This record gives sequence, C-alpha cells and structure tokens, in this order.
Amino acid sequence: MTETRTPVPDTENLNRLVPMHIAIIMDGNGRWAKKRLLPRTAGHTAGVKSVRRTVEYCVKKGVKALTLFAFSSENWRRPAEEVSILMQLFVSALESEVQKLHKQGIRLRVIGDTSVFSVKLRRKIEDAERITANNDRFDLLIAANYGGRWDIVQATRKICAEFSAGNIEADDINEDLLQSQLSFSDIPHPDLFIRTGGESRISNFLLWHLAYTELYFTPVLWPDFNESALEDAMHDFSKRQRRFGYTGEQIAQMTSNA
Ligand code: IPE
Ligand code: IPE
Ligand code: MG
Repeated sequence: MTETRTPVPDTENLNRLVPMHIAIIMDGNGRWAKKRLLPRTAGHTAGVKSVRRTVEYCVKKGVKALTLFAFSSENWRRPAEEVSILMQLFVSALESEVQKLHKQGIRLRVIGDTSVFSVKLRRKIEDAERITANNDRFDLLIAANYGGRWDIVQATRKICAEFSAGNIEADDINEDLLQSQLSFSDIPHPDLFIRTGGESRISNFLLWHLAYTELYFTPVLWPDFNESALEDAMHDFSKRQRRFGYTGEQIAQMTSNA
C-alpha cells in the first residue's frame, strides 16, 4: 500500500487570498428550467455551458484545481429518463471538451464509482484521463456517481484488505493512511466550497476533504453562475480568517511573520 502524506498542511494556506482549490455543488438546473417552462433536462444542458465558463474563469483567476459535483450516488433516485439524459450529456461533454481542455494544459480526472457506467462512458472517461494525464497547469476533478460516504467506505475497504494480507497493523491506521486511500489524495483539500441553487447543505459531497474548507452558499442557479458570481464568492473568501483550531490572535501573529 503506498502511503502518501496529507497534501499541504492546512496551515500553509493561512495567507492565501485566492483559493487554490474550489469545490462546487452545481445545483439549481431543474429550477432554472422550470422558471422558463422548459423540461428539467434543458437546465442540465445550460448547466454544461456554465461548467465550461467556470473552468475558464478559474484558470484565468489563478485557481489551480476545481472539483465539480456532477452526479451524486443518490441521483440514481431520479426519473430514469433524466438520469439517462445526464449520462448522455456527460458523454457528449467529454467528446467535445477534452481536446480544448488538453490545449489549455488542464488535467481531467473523474472521481466516484465509475464501474457502474456504460462501457461507452467509461471509455470516454479513460480516454479523457489518458489524453490529459501529463498536464500540470490546472486540475479539473469531476465527481460522478460520487458520494463522500462512498469515498470513506472504499478507502476503508482498501485498508482492511492490506490488514487482512498482513501488510499493516491496526496501529498503522491513522489520518494520513486513510487520506492516502481517498479520491484525489495528491491534491490539497478545497479552500473554498461553493453551492449554487440556494440550499445550505453538503448533500454527501466531499465529507472528509471539507473539514476546514470555507463554505459559501449562493441563491444563483447553476446555469446563471457567471464570472461576477464567482468573483463574489472569491471576494467573500478573501475576507475570511482561517483559523484551523488556533486563536485569531495566533493567526494574526503567524500571518504578520510570514
Ligand atoms: C443539479 O441541478 C444537477 C444535478 C444534480 C445533476 P438539479 O437538477 O438538482 O436542479 P434542482 O435542484 O432540481 O433545481
Ligand atoms: C447535489 O444536488 C448533487 C449535485 C449537484 C450533483 P442535489 O440536487 O442532488 O441535492 P439535494 O437532493 O437537493 O440535497
Ligand atoms: Mg438539486
């Protein structure tokens, strides 16, 4: 089992005015469509355009990683037709965007249980990940059939397998080891979490990774999320004091010494 160190101790982020990693729950597509008397799926199509724009704004603003919640492990509960259209949109977005992402130096990865997707979709994901694997300008992580609980369970299973094989002992299990088996263990945890669509909940998105992330909720519906909405979120972030358990005075001293 390869153990990677917890990426970038949280306290290294104290001084950051621009979030290095943003994680977004892209919510509100259905309501956006409903307001326009359109089918929910029209909202998802508009949502894909918003994804494209948001990636560009983030690259432009110096963000280094973006994690987007595209489909949760609970979204299978939706009507079969909506699920099927979401899967088709995923395939077509991968087809049309991969070369553009590659040209911009973006590395794309899909996190989540992709084993249940169609062969076609799995191939598109593999192709996209392979084509962009060596890019290092920006990391784009798409959470598809992802659940924060699923992530912790799959990491625990891998650790248990190592334990059963006699490769580790119970005392070897610590935060770093669990972290190393979670999705995107090589990328620092999100600095800023944004949820569009007005709900103030995590909906089983990144549970472990959001432990010290700054949370931002906006009523803007995902298809309407634009550069100024992103700027609002980033401006709000820049005014926060991240404390990681220290006192405000300790943090003020650390940042003035830095
Ligand atoms: C988010 O928008 C997209 C997915 C969950 C795939 P919704 O489809 O949840 O939109 P609302 O919440 O119904 O408006
Ligand atoms: C969260 O949105 C999942 C995604 C955006 C992919 P939902 O619309 O599924 O969340 P709930 O059901 O309102 O909590
Ligand atoms: Mg929703």
